[in-house]
Amino acid sequence: MDKYNVIHIVGARPQFIKLSSVLRAFDSKDIPCKVIHTGQHYDYEMSSLMFEELGLRDPEYNLGIGSSTHGRQTAEMLSSIENVLLKEKPPVVIVYGDTNSTLAGSLASVKLKIPVAHVEAGLRSFERYMPEEINRVLTDHMSEHLFCPTLRAVKQLELEGLKGTFTGDVMVDAMNIFSGKSPPCPVEGEFVLVTIHRQENTDNKDRLAKILAGIEMLSHELKVVFPIHPRTRKVLENMKFSLPEGLSLIHPVGYLHMLSMIRGAICVVTDSGGVQKEAFMLKTPCVTVRNKTEWPETVEAGWNRLVEADDASIYGAVMDMKNIHPGQGDDMPFGDGRASHYIAQYIKEHCL
Ligand code: UD1
Ligand code: UDP
Repeated sequence: MDKYNVIHIVGARPQFIKLSSVLRAFDSKDIPCKVIHTGQHYDYEMSSLMFEELGLRDPEYNLGIGSSTHGRQTAEMLSSIENVLLKEKPPVVIVYGDTNSTLAGSLASVKLKIPVAHVEAGLRSFERYMPEEINRVLTDHMSEHLFCPTLRAVKQLELEGLKGTFTGDVMVDAMNIFSGKSPPCPVEGEFVLVTIHRQENTDNKDRLAKILAGIEMLSHELKVVFPIHPRTRKVLENMKFSLPEGLSLIHPVGYLHMLSMIRGAICVVTDSGGVQKEAFMLKTPCVTVRNKTEWPETVEAGWNRLVEADDASIYGAVMDMKNIHPGQGDDMPFGDGRASHYIAQYIKEHCL
């Protein structure tokens, strides 16, 4: 019966979170599935810790691709994923989000004429220099089934001649499953939570120096906790960054701790896609160090502010935002928390 398994392809931290709720929904409908982990993320905190906390079984395939340049990493994934798909012959392949694992998974599948379903379709930052934007656009245009987290995403696909299905966001489902299980916030007192890892911020030395200067300004007045992504840690090691007193750099934390830290923080400073949304849902004000966001709903609702990579702007925005509590009303742009169920049901009806 192996050839009837639906294949899910993941590789990076946020994809394990998305997979956790979707796989539960597939299991509950007895849809046989196998998981390919490309190995894009491999540090304990970035991968195994996530699998443990999310209660995910070991993936059937771990391709162990690891880190490299974009081209080499994507090419190695493409070739290894193809081998698995040739063996498994799945009726459909499910890919998540916007990483190189997403792009490689969808390209390997369509070249074998295996239909692709994209979870988190239709998002756009309209910033083509971001690797994630290229990955999203290409994946959407390769996919036969497009699951949109917002109505705006459905409209965007329509503008591009594609038909999306509104399901809501599977990260809301994950939060619903796991936030009740999260431990008390491990940080005492008032603090600002920082996560910075996007390529456009870490790989431009001037930009990163200005972001760090903003974090340092904050740390003179407030406790700042920064669970640091390995990409950023490596850049800081090369810069010989000296740690200001109020700043704690810590290892990446597990998802359950992360939820409790976002909830406990007085403000979040980030460039992460997932963290912007989680801050919105957990009612913590957020300052996003980016020109544009693929989650504009969080900005429109007043919970998120985009800022320049500039010390005074970051400091000023946090000081402003930490006191803001715009309320959430009834407007929940990310669905009803049953996105994974709708996706599993759709796959059962249309693909098996
Ligand atoms: C990737 C995604 C990004 C997503 C992020 C989630 C792409 C193009 N980017 O970025 O959209 O926001 O994952 O966290 O796919 N590294 C380690 N250990 C690890 C993983 C990475 O040391 O377990 C280091 C390596 O030096 C590597 C660098 O981090 O070169 C970048 O890793 P990579 O997976 O290429 O991109 P991310 O920045 O993690
Ligand atoms: N996250 C986590 N531990 C951390 C930092 C982030 O569990 O130390 C979670 C976070 O809560 C969110 C997801 O990882 O659910 C976001 O992933 P990331 O910021 O790596 O990628 P992005 O969303 O920007 O693609």
